[in-house]
Amino acid sequence: MNKYAIILAAGKGTRMKSKLPKVLHEVAGKSMLAHVLSHVSSVDTEKNIVIVGHEAERVIATLPKGTNYVKQSEQLGTGHAVKIAADLLADQEGMTLVIAGDTPLITGETLNRLFAYHQSQKATATILTAIAENPTGYGRIVRGDDHSVEKIVEQKDASESEKAIKEINTGTYVFDNKSLFMALNKITTNNAQGEYYLTDVIEIFKSMQKTVAAFSLDDFNESLGVNDRVALAQAEKIMRARINKQHMINGVTLIDPETTYIDADIEIGAETVIEGNVVIKGKTTIFNHVNITNGSRIIDSEIHSDTEIRNSTIEGSRMSVGSNVGPYAHLRPETVLSEDVHVGNFVEVKSSTLGKGTKAGHLTYIGNATVGEKVNFGAGTITANYDGHNKFNTEIDDFAFIGSNTTLIAPVHVGKNGLTAAGSVVIDDVPNEAVAIARGRQVNKLNRAKKMPHYRGQ
Ligand code: UD1
Ligand code: CA
Repeated sequence: MNKYAIILAAGKGTRMKSKLPKVLHEVAGKSMLAHVLSHVSSVDTEKNIVIVGHEAERVIATLPKGTNYVKQSEQLGTGHAVKIAADLLADQEGMTLVIAGDTPLITGETLNRLFAYHQSQKATATILTAIAENPTGYGRIVRGDDHSVEKIVEQKDASESEKAIKEINTGTYVFDNKSLFMALNKITTNNAQGEYYLTDVIEIFKSMQKTVAAFSLDDFNESLGVNDRVALAQAEKIMRARINKQHMINGVTLIDPETTYIDADIEIGAETVIEGNVVIKGKTTIFNHVNITNGSRIIDSEIHSDTEIRNSTIEGSRMSVGSNVGPYAHLRPETVLSEDVHVGNFVEVKSSTLGKGTKAGHLTYIGNATVGEKVNFGAGTITANYDGHNKFNTEIDDFAFIGSNTTLIAPVHVGKNGLTAAGSVVIDDVPNEAVAIARGRQVNKLNRAKKMPHYRGQ
């Protein structure tokens, strides 16, 4: 039987107190809607339709190419939102999944099991339910004497005895498609919130003697609906634990998973060891046998095997095999470290390529530079790449030796085997094989110390 999916993402999310539409808030670096869409993509559906409304253009801009969407111009409730898809779907034979864009933790595996259960029960509607320790805020599943589902009652419409029910509606359902749209024509706004509730279709099916089934989740955590930032933080914590567990199963050592923050969809190779308080974000790939010590932050970067990152920040950079950075180094966007490069403490590199085996051990700034192989940067080297208006490039060829506290005024070129004397301010190119000395000569004034203010006697 054909499968379809409707994803509800039109609501404002008033309780988030945010300018950003609720479904675009991120959990582990990925919007809630993107999480839901990737879970839905593990079901073999004919068509998925996202219902957008509040800040529709912003939401649409995040959808993967080719995703169908329909606009709900006024947010009159979840029932109204589903009905908006009628033009695209109402006359299809098949089963339709309805899921909210604010439940990012419901897995693809659960969705497939929900479809299978729905079919096995020959149901018209199957509700994904869960048992909540604290059900406040969720719709409650009201069951009759024979234990079958009678209706769903929303928090705001519930009697005291209904509020005591711990079985909640996760907001995810599978319906017989045609029956769904038939029932949606019958719902009203006669409730505490004056909205068209999708949940009201359940009572309609019951009154028509159709089968309503409930498939209960083992783990309430999956069903968490994010309505405010408290729940957003809970979702983040659950998602992070899930992500970290998967990395550990894949062979990554996490010294303290509780304080390791790895975004969704990041790949990490086996034998990599990650200490606590490490943040790994964005489009980052980490290969095998990488050592990452506490306090490191890695964003949008490619970290190859046998590398080490000690208490450092790496953004938009590539570290090749055998390279290492830190402690307290900062690689800024468009940095490429070739094999076996060493970038030491208090070194910042930006928009630069460092050739194989090059070393910058201490207190150095390298910006807009192309550096060859086995170059040595003395402590305190600065590429002066900015005149307040434009950026200029520095080129340093293989085996050059940059003396401590050299200032390289770009644009400038240091040739192969070139050397700059410590303390030099290099404004002219240094030819291959040359030594550049560009500093004042030292003068010793003998016995002058006693005339100076600092003098304290012998
Ligand atoms: C809903 C359910 C509730 C369930 C809970 C699970 C209803 C009436 N209630 O309540 O039983 O326990 O989810 O998390 O369905 N939306 C639209 N258009 C609208 C209204 C909402 O697209 O006009 C979207 C929202 O963007 C959101 C989803 O539907 O993604 C759910 O809406 P929300 O207002 O969060 O419903 P809840 O009050 O959580
Ligand atoms: Ca919700």
